[in-house]
Parts: sequence; C-alpha cells; structure tokens
Amino acid sequence: MTLVNTADLIRAADRDGCALGGFNIYNLEGVRAVVAAAEATRSPVILQIHPAALRHGGRPLVALCLSAAQEASVPAAVHLDHSTELADIQVALEMGIPSVMADGSHLPYADNLAYIRQVTALAATMGASVEAELGRISGTEDGLSVADYEARMTDPDQAAAFVQQTNIDLLAVCIGNVHGVYRQPPRLDFDRLAAIDRAVAIPLVLHGASGLDDALIRQAIRCGVRKFNVNTEVRQAYLDTLKTALVTSPSVDLVPLMQQAQHAMQAVVAEKMALFGSAGRADPITG
Ligand code: 13P
Repeated sequence: MTLVNTADLIRAADRDGCALGGFNIYNLEGVRAVVAAAEATRSPVILQIHPAALRHGGRPLVALCLSAAQEASVPAAVHLDHSTELADIQVALEMGIPSVMADGSHLPYADNLAYIRQVTALAATMGASVEAELGRISGTEDGLSVADYEARMTDPDQAAAFVQQTNIDLLAVCIGNVHGVYRQPPRLDFDRLAAIDRAVAIPLVLHGASGLDDALIRQAIRCGVRKFNVNTEVRQAYLDTLKTALVTSPSVDLVPLMQQAQHAMQAVVAEKMALFGSAGRADPITG
C-alpha cells in the first residue's frame, strides 16, 4: 500500500485510542515476520532499525525495509531507533528513512535539548518526524547497556518545556520501563505517566514493552501511550527457534529454518498487535 510517516500513523492511532508496535528488525526474516503479522491482523505497523543493525546492514537493510513497507497491504512506517549521533540520523534520512528517534537521554538536560533541536531542524527540512526521550531507560539492547543507577524517571513539568522547545512529534517516557528482560516484576509509575500525558499534547512512547503483561499494556494505553517498542520477545522467538531446530534436526536446510524462525516471530508480533489494539485498524487509519 504505502510507506507512511510514523507520526501520522501514531496521530491516527491516538484518534482511535489504540497504540502501535514499533518492532525492531535485523534481517529479511524479521521484516517479513512483522509485515506478515500486520497484514494478517490488518494492523498498521512500524519497522524499526537500531543503529547497530543499521551499521551492520547499511543501505541494503534500509532498502529492504522501505520496499517491504511500500509493498505492504497495510500502512507501514520505517523508523530509526535510539540514535545518539547526528551523523547517523543524517545518513538515515538521506537513505530515505522518514522518521527517527534522536536519543539524547545520556546527556545533561541542556545538551539533550540542544541535540534534539538540531535534529528537529534537520528533520523538518526533509519532512521527517522525530521521537525523543526524556529521563533515562536502564537495561540492555544491542550492546548498549545502561545500569539501573543511571536510570532517571521523566519529570512531567520538564517534559512540557522540552516538547515545547524542541517541537518533537513523539515523546518516549521513563516510568520504570527497562530494555531487555525485566529481572524483577515490572513496576510502572502510572501516576507519573498520566501526569506527563496531561502536561504534553503529543503522543507518548513506551520503550521496553517486552515482558509487560496485558493489564500493564492496557493501563499504559489508557494513560496516553500510543507506541510500544518491542524487540526482546521477537528476537527471543527467533533465537529459540534456531536453537531448537539445530538440536532436533541438525541437517535442516536453511530455507525451512528461516521460515520457521519467521513464523515464530510473526506469532509474537501478531499477539502484540491484538494487545495494542492496532489489529483491524489498518483501513480506518488510511481512510
Ligand atoms: P524490549 O527490549 O523490551 O523489547 O524493548 C525494545 C525497545 O524499547 C527498543 O527501542
């Protein structure tokens, strides 16, 4: 159908009171799994590329995502995840990725603000949308680890000023969410989330959505979250399939193995789309 802008998709989800998944992909099987799940459930979808995957896959990986999004029978967006470097963002935008997450959360507030303002100015010249994070999420993703003691919650008043001064499209919040596996039962600060939602007029993003149960996800949607980032559970489905298949049938051919891995990831993604409420929303969002 079409490659669409992430912010437009999310604004439509906001009107519908549901959320979309941003699913990290690394290769053809990942892209196919996410798009096939979206088509099967009639859900709009966001394909996300982490900078580590971008460095590995380069232009061919971006071309794969853009072409899969263009050919999908549902609205699909392509998004650069967690980018700490303006240079990476520039390269991604020039390659045709129409939406980026600029991550200045490791910087002091004033530097984060300055970095994001640079990114929104650049993105505006290319019609791209920008997600930024305030606070700091702990956990591990693609070799990037943030210790628990470095985690910082998002402050609602600061969020209001930050959004107003940066002109971002989406705000990623830190309310106790973590990247990777939750080592303790997740404890999300919903009062803080609701206060952030009241303080800013743009949709909210929750990273670290793997491992959050249905009740937590539904409450997050009620408090304004419109995009959930999912990586760990999908990646785990891929790795588990490969591990099991290689033990049970070590001489398996590569194509059936890749298909098994794709189906395992697709099942996880489809389940998330149903939970986020985006399943069945593909047509109203475009119309
Ligand atoms: P998970 O590690 O919980 O899947 O989160 C992924 C994420 O937030 C990507 O930005």
